[in-house]
Amino acid sequence: RILIIDYGSQFTQLIARRIREERVYCEIHPPTRSLEWIREWAPKGIVLSGGPSSVYGEDVPTADPQLLHMGIPVLGVCYGMQLITHLEGGVVERGRREYGRAHVTVEEGTGIFDGFPAGERTQVWMSHGDHVVQPPPGYRLLASTEGLPWAAFAANDRPIYGVQFHLEVAHTTRGADMIGNFVFRVCGCEPTWTAGSYIENEIAKIRSTVGDAQVICGLSGGVDSSVAASLVHRAIGEQLTCIFVDTGLLRAGERESVERTFRAHMGIKLEVVDASDLFLDRLAGVEDPEAKRKIIGHTFIDVFEDASARLGGDAQFLVQGTLYPDVIESLSVKGPSATIKTHHNVGGLKEDMKFALIEPLRELFKDEVRQVGRELGLPEEMVGRHPFPGPGLAIRVLGAVDRRELEVLRQADTIYLEEIRSAGLYDDIWQAFAVLLPVRSVGVMGDERTYENVCALRAVTSRDGMTADWYPFPHDVLARISTRIINEVAGINRVCYDISSKPPATIEWE
Ligand code: XMP
Repeated sequence: RILIIDYGSQFTQLIARRIREERVYCEIHPPTRSLEWIREWAPKGIVLSGGPSSVYGEDVPTADPQLLHMGIPVLGVCYGMQLITHLEGGVVERGRREYGRAHVTVEEGTGIFDGFPAGERTQVWMSHGDHVVQPPPGYRLLASTEGLPWAAFAANDRPIYGVQFHLEVAHTTRGADMIGNFVFRVCGCEPTWTAGSYIENEIAKIRSTVGDAQVICGLSGGVDSSVAASLVHRAIGEQLTCIFVDTGLLRAGERESVERTFRAHMGIKLEVVDASDLFLDRLAGVEDPEAKRKIIGHTFIDVFEDASARLGGDAQFLVQGTLYPDVIESLSVKGPSATIKTHHNVGGLKEDMKFALIEPLRELFKDEVRQVGRELGLPEEMVGRHPFPGPGLAIRVLGAVDRRELEVLRQADTIYLEEIRSAGLYDDIWQAFAVLLPVRSVGVMGDERTYENVCALRAVTSRDGMTADWYPFPHDVLARISTRIINEVAGINRVCYDISSKPPATIEWE
C-alpha cells in the first residue's frame, strides 16, 4: 500500500483516486505522522502531495529529512518536489506563477517515465508559484519544459522522484502511466485492491471490533448507508438492527420505498422512526447552513439513542455510511486543507454520544462503494441511485426551513426526477435535484399577477463528488421540466438551471 502525505493541495484526493484506479490501496495522512508511525504503517511507497505553502515560509508543513532515507520510494508532486529539493540541499525559487497546460520533454525514460522514449513531448498540468532552480546534489534531470528546466528529477542512488506538474489530473495526458510506473515498477506493489478483497477484510475487522455486542445502523436509503448496512449484516447478521429515521426532510415516497426494498430484498431487521416533528421544530427559524447541519447531526444521534434504548438499550455501536470525501471535506484528520462543509456524519456528531462508530466505507470513494454494493449482491436500483445527503431537503430549501416550503420543493423535485427518468437520462447523471430559493419573483398566470418562489435545478456529472460539471441537458427536456414545475407546483413561478461546476461551486447549494 501507498502512503500519501497531504500538504494541502486541492488535488491530493485525486492522487489517491488515481492510485486506487491502479487497484493499489492507499491512504492520505497529515504531515505530522512520525517516522515510527510510518515505519509501522509500512507503505511500499510514499507520495508527498502538492500544497499552497512555500518551503521557505514560516510554520510550513515539512517532513523529517530521514523520510528520504528509509529505503522507501518517494514521489514528490509540486510542493512535494520542492520539499525534497529543500530537505536535500537544492534551491527553490519563488517566481512567476504558472497555471495550466504545458509540455514536458522527457530526458530519460526510466522510473516514473518507464516506457516513455527519450525526447517524447507530453502534455502536463502546472499549478505552482515556486519551482526548483537547482536540484539537490546527486539528483539528475528526467524532464523539462521550455520555461522550467527542472520539471522532473530523480535521485541517483535511491528511488526518490519529484515532478513539478500535477500528474494526478486528467489534463496530464500520460499521468496514469506515470502513477502506474511509480506504484508497480518503483514500489513493487501488486494490483490486488478489489471490492472482494475489501469486503473480506472489512468483515473480519467488523467481527473482531463488535464481538457479540448489538449494533444499530442509521439507514437513509441512499447508496452509502445501504451498502454499509449490508456489509455489516454480512459480518454479524442478527446483531444488527437498522433504523430508518423519517426526518421530515425526505423526498416524496422515500420512506415507503426504503421500507419495501429493505424488508423484501435484504432480510435485515428494520425499525422506522418518525421524528419529523423533532427535526422540524429544532430547525425552525435557523438560516445558517452549518448550524442546520449541526442540528441535524445531533438530532440523528438523539433519535438513535432513543431508539436503541427502546429496542433493549444495549447497542454499543452505530454504523454510518461515511465516505472518504466526507472525511476529507469535513474536519480533518488531515491538517492543512480547509473545512468546506461539515458533512453531518463526520463533523456534526455529538461529542458525548454513547455509541462507538463503525464506518466500514470510510476509506472508499463513491464509485468504489457502488462496486462493493454490487459485489454484495444489492439490487441495481439501489446501487445506482443518485446520492442523497444526510441533511436531506433541509440543505435544499435555502435558509430557514418550514413544512410548506419542503412540500413545494418535494413536488418540484419529483417532477424533475420523473422527467429525467422518462428521458432516459438518470444513469448519465451523477446527481440531480431541485433547490428552493428564498427569493420571490413576479410572474403572470392566466391574467393574474403571481409573486412566488424561484426554483433552481441542479444536475451534475462526476466520478466521485469531489469535482463535478453541470450536465448539458437537451433543451427540450429542460423546457418540459420547467413547464411542468411552473404549471403543477403552486408556490413556484420561475425555474432556473444551475450552470456552475465544482469547484468553485459545490454540488449542493448549502
Ligand atoms: P458538495 O455539496 O459538498 O457535495 O459538493 C458532495 C456530495 O456529498 C453530498 N453531501 C452530503 N452527504 N451528508 C451526506 O451524507 C452531508 O452532510 C452532505 N453534504 C453534501 C452531496 O449531495 C454530494 O453528493
